[in-house]
Amino acid sequence: MMNLDHALQEISAAPSLEALHTLKVQYLGKNGLVTQEMKTLGKLSPEERKEKGRALNEIKEKLTAALAAREAAIKEQALQEQLEREALDVSLPGYAFPSGGLHLISQIQKELLDIFRTMGHSVVEGPEVESEFFNFDGVNMPEWHPARDMQDTFWLQPPEGFTIQGPFGESVNDLGSALLRTHTSPMQVRYMVQHTPPFKIVVPGRVFRYEQTDASHEAMFFQLEGLVVGEGITMADLKGAITELARGLFGAEGRVRFQPTFFPFVEPGAQFAMWWPERQKWLELGGAGMVHPNVFKAVDDYREKLGLARAYEGVSGWAFGFGLERLALLRYGIPDIRYFYQQNRLSFLRQFRN
Ligand code: PHE
Repeated sequence: MMNLDHALQEISAAPSLEALHTLKVQYLGKNGLVTQEMKTLGKLSPEERKEKGRALNEIKEKLTAALAAREAAIKEQALQEQLEREALDVSLPGYAFPSGGLHLISQIQKELLDIFRTMGHSVVEGPEVESEFFNFDGVNMPEWHPARDMQDTFWLQPPEGFTIQGPFGESVNDLGSALLRTHTSPMQVRYMVQHTPPFKIVVPGRVFRYEQTDASHEAMFFQLEGLVVGEGITMADLKGAITELARGLFGAEGRVRFQPTFFPFVEPGAQFAMWWPERQKWLELGGAGMVHPNVFKAVDDYREKLGLARAYEGVSGWAFGFGLERLALLRYGIPDIRYFYQQNRLSFLRQFRN
């Protein structure tokens, strides 16, 4: 006869589920000790059988209960150990991953484009390497025109066989020398050659001027050009659009001021300023005006050369152009334009992280 206390002790000390299983087989399995005892019952007298049978059943129940209890205990312990092993202290500070952000000028460009998109303008871009024709002659600045002195130019010496391509990708050999565009206005000509009015566009992009850099001058900066052409377009439309721009930038109090000035590609021409409500002052921003008839004529002449119908007789239009860095300098009180690109200092740029 087996020793019940010993068996119960073994079970409660079983270190693992495997060990527990071995014990279960040893006592209750097909050839287990209890099972074997059960098989001897048949040889006993009814009296003895009844007594021993009851005793064996009791033993079996106790063992079964002990096995189940130990199994639960082992599983619970394993779970506790796993929880401890995998514990995560969510109160610990995390790792800061370095992340990028948009350059202030990119942010401003995006803001400006969004404002003009709401007014129905398409956004188009053009080449930075331009020809004399699109940059100057096409916008009413012929070679002898004193206005060419207004913009000092980076002239390029392109490699053998390089030609500037026109708006349709055509190579035209009388477009003059190659240069880095001094303003975004050449896109006026390119776009008008390729499209017929009416349309509204804005042209963001980099421009280049060959000049000494100082706190307010850079050799490379960004401009935004606007152009609207159609029947019956007037200066009032121009003022309305620039006023919307001012409201988009400075809220409902945004206002604009126009003062007459000269640009060869507009007539009449104006410089415009925006009212800065927070500082109660005018920000002198850029130039604008009604598209000069000579610009329309240059466009139509070019179209004719390509075999296209003239499309700009009897229409009118307005244009504007201004520098993004200038807007940023004034709006944020930044003392030096060189912070943007030459120094490209992160401690500066991070202050404008979005
Ligand atoms: N292209 C001019 C400049 O760079 C700005 C301008 C654009 C003025 C369109 C009038 C109309 O200074």
